[in-house]
Amino acid sequence: MSTPNTPIRERVASLDHTVVPESVRLAPATAGETSPAGLYRHGDRYLIGGEVCLWTGDTTEVTSPICTDGKRTVIGRAASLTREESLDAMAAAVSAWDHGRGEWPTMRVGARIERAQAFVEKMKHVREESVRLLMWEIAKTRADSEKEFDRTVAYIEDTIDALKEFDRDGGRFTQGGGVITQIRRAPLGPTLCMGPFNYPLNETFTTLIPALLMGNPIVCKLPKYGALCQGPLLPAFAECFPAGAVNVINGEGPTVVGPLLESGALASLAFIGTARVANILKRQHPHLNRMRCILGLEAKNPAIILPDADLDLAVKECVAGALSYNGQRCTGIKLIWVHRKVETAFLDRLAAAVDKLGFGAPWDQGVQLTPLPEEGKTARLQAFVDDAVGRGAQIVNENAGIHSETFYFPAVVRGVKAGMALHSQEQFGPIVPVSSFDDVSEVLDWLAEGAYGQQASLFGRDPVTIGGLCDVLANLVCRVNLNAQCQRGPDVFPFTGRKDSAEGTLSVSDALRSFSIRSMVAAPSTHDNRDLLRQVLTRRTSKFVSTDYLF
Ligand code: G3H
Repeated sequence: MSTPNTPIRERVASLDHTVVPESVRLAPATAGETSPAGLYRHGDRYLIGGEVCLWTGDTTEVTSPICTDGKRTVIGRAASLTREESLDAMAAAVSAWDHGRGEWPTMRVGARIERAQAFVEKMKHVREESVRLLMWEIAKTRADSEKEFDRTVAYIEDTIDALKEFDRDGGRFTQGGGVITQIRRAPLGPTLCMGPFNYPLNETFTTLIPALLMGNPIVCKLPKYGALCQGPLLPAFAECFPAGAVNVINGEGPTVVGPLLESGALASLAFIGTARVANILKRQHPHLNRMRCILGLEAKNPAIILPDADLDLAVKECVAGALSYNGQRCTGIKLIWVHRKVETAFLDRLAAAVDKLGFGAPWDQGVQLTPLPEEGKTARLQAFVDDAVGRGAQIVNENAGIHSETFYFPAVVRGVKAGMALHSQEQFGPIVPVSSFDDVSEVLDWLAEGAYGQQASLFGRDPVTIGGLCDVLANLVCRVNLNAQCQRGPDVFPFTGRKDSAEGTLSVSDALRSFSIRSMVAAPSTHDNRDLLRQVLTRRTSKFVSTDYLF
């Protein structure tokens, strides 16, 4: 067993033989059990038409980035559904929609909210199971896995509150030009939700829940890594929502996702992943104008360190921004631009802070860096570093690139310039590239010419410089963080991006808007029409035309 005094290479190598405490096993040990993780037994379940089904066809082995015995640990098997189940899921959603006449899309908002409240209560019971699966599947630290779960619960509760607010606003009649109207937000239709591996629970739910609450039937395709952590929630979906309102499938993307798009029945697509895949998906829909897309894609968020910046604060925020969850966040800081006057002082502190980061298994106390879920990732990261060094960049920190089968110690790379992959491509992992500048217009030109436009972090103190830069940066990205790392939260704020970084906006209230459309009932304000509307209200003959007040 390694200790903090064991040389770093030995400690990293020991990650290939992680010791698993009983307290994090996925299942109690049984006779003949070979995996030290314990096998999660429900990866062969999927949800279609209100039924949790047991898959008896082909499955794929699910392995964890946490290595025991020198290799990735087997933690279960996942259903490899086929085109047939995918089309069954689509048919179930289409039937739940029933051309806008289905039980779910026509249900009163208050009743939909009650279903979601029941769901979130059941969800709270599976917290520990989901957290353990997150630790094993994607090696997120226990603290961050718990945060992902709790943040998702809070997101659902906040979404319910926001929907009540929307409903109260829509509950008013308005009059103009002799016309009396009631304007509400109506669902779009069957919606496909696909979340990413880095937030398999949270970022799946930040689209699925608002889309569902607005009355859209859902087909959810689980991510390749992070598919098991949804398993404990399937029964709750089945129990709380009408048949077909939520359908959850798993399998190879081209096999199960293509048929959903090609069916032409999807009214919206919520996808968090790469721009390349998003484009493939969109083009498969036969009627492009009939599918609204809400996309969260790649980013190359810069941190800009001005000469008067508080360097200790900048280092702290840049380390958190570039390396939280090993740099696998779309909002991560992916390139640090430092003014040449403070370059050396900044880099010395940055390298020291990175080399001090604790690493280990996700359940280890105080650990910040953990193994990487994607297969072949350490080699891809090393290729980024080799490319930069081969073109004149230098490695700054001592522990850079020390790796095991699935772990890679972060590399701080200085002198990153145009022509190096690290200058323009998203590394999505533990590499901290640093470029220097003499004039901040160099950074603004880089942003303007690049493919992405999500966020930027700006470190400095002079109000004139900061004010002027905010004016330009606000037109190049969608969030300028002053003296702080880039991030999505708090979830009440709009989360979006320009160019290849996003399409549409998410936040607690924006997501409800994104998955709905304003629809209205309008009538010339005649005596007869006013009387007609009064009767519809008093006799409660409509769910849309209603002045019910949701407390
Ligand atoms: O991967 C992208 C996530 O939306 C980032 O969210 O800033 O809260 O980690 P976060």
